[in-house]
Amino acid sequence: MMNEQLTADNLNDAGHLQIGGVDALTLAHQFDTPLYVYDINKVRDQIQRFKHVFEQRHVHYGISYASKAFSSIGIYQVMAQEGIHTDVVSGGELQTAINAGFPMAKVAFHGNNKSREELEMAVKHDVGLIIVDNFHEIDLLNKVLQEQQTHCKVVIRITPGIAAHTNSYIATGQVDSKFGFDLQSGQADRALQIILQSERMEVFGVHAHIGSQVFDGRGFNAAARKLVDVAAHWKAQYGYEVSSINVGGGFGIQYSSLQSPMAPEDFVDGIITAMEEEVQKTGINMPAIWIEPGRSLVGPAGYTLYTVGSRKDIPGGYEPFISVDGGMGDNIRPALYQAEYETVYARDPQAPATERVRIAGKYCESGDVLAMHQPLPKTHPGDILAMLDTGAYGYAMASNYNRNPRPAVVFAENGEARLVIRRETPADVSRLDLNYLAVKM
Ligand code: LLP
Repeated sequence: MMNEQLTADNLNDAGHLQIGGVDALTLAHQFDTPLYVYDINKVRDQIQRFKHVFEQRHVHYGISYASKAFSSIGIYQVMAQEGIHTDVVSGGELQTAINAGFPMAKVAFHGNNKSREELEMAVKHDVGLIIVDNFHEIDLLNKVLQEQQTHCKVVIRITPGIAAHTNSYIATGQVDSKFGFDLQSGQADRALQIILQSERMEVFGVHAHIGSQVFDGRGFNAAARKLVDVAAHWKAQYGYEVSSINVGGGFGIQYSSLQSPMAPEDFVDGIITAMEEEVQKTGINMPAIWIEPGRSLVGPAGYTLYTVGSRKDIPGGYEPFISVDGGMGDNIRPALYQAEYETVYARDPQAPATERVRIAGKYCESGDVLAMHQPLPKTHPGDILAMLDTGAYGYAMASNYNRNPRPAVVFAENGEARLVIRRETPADVSRLDLNYLAVKM
């Protein structure tokens, strides 16, 4: 039986797993493993699904890809082709977007502690929006704008007092957050007043992000209403009307058949309805609705290919360990968040499972286990396994732990595979080191 996360498109005539129309075994052979592969059409489809709902409901909107989920020149180029915006959260992500030729007017710069250098870089490159997070940043940004004799558009990030978790949300949660201006104590109002007085900043809107890998829409709807109330209050109190309300990202995806997140369409539909109702109630003009999906755009499109190596059977009814050539360096999420993934046997994803195994990584740490209780047919050294839905926060959080080189990344689309990030070599891993014995004082 085929894994529920796969579709008929995932099987080729030979019965092998295919990704973006390319045989997974060919990919592993051509580019080596571990290998991240993205089915780029899946990314494009996901964007279209989000866009479609907004367009059907005739609202002004902005979709900004939260590129922390996966930042690379190639993915920014795909996002640019699809005509959406992107968020960056560091000088490194911004530099990558610049190198990609991504339109700077469509970049939003996020972060709770942007450095002066990062703000200088953002202003110099005329990024479209800076999401201001705290008073220190407003101060720094004013100075940078003064120095560069220029202006910028900002969005004010607030903590709305709503925290969403996978299956629940707390209406009074998330006051105690490192991000954004607190609402209750009046910080958000003070931020608005300061910015309105600045000659160099123009307020575009208000923003909140309530959580990640969220499965139900109630938290978003509550946040949307809260943000409209803030906008109405700002209009009444300060005569300022926002042009946009940004409800952040966090739309959950299905990592395993046991999970059932809402469809992207339903998340967005609920947000639009909540916002429209609250706008009606408060009498402000309908602002543009912005969202910042990261995981939901790239997660389901990503696969990690591994080659099976050693096996350890432990007498006494323990689950065997099947070790692969990657692990916590290319996917920290199982170790860090107890995240669960499903894995298939790439040569024959339909092959009946004959055992349950633990898929262990090659890193020198007992916690380096990528998956537990994974049903698989009997595998042998050299076999290729494909872990599914690894496109978000996989490569993005990859490390050189144990000085393992990071894998390559390939985009597959319409039967063609292109290398978009080269594999690191052992030489790359020590490229920043200096020879202590040769350093002259
Ligand atoms: N907008 C803001 C302001 C965010 O902080 C985030 C994620 C997003 C959008 C995108 O959220 P997404 O749609 O990807 O859920 N490393 C963790 C996830 C951290 C998310 C941080 N912020 C993980 O691997 O699950």
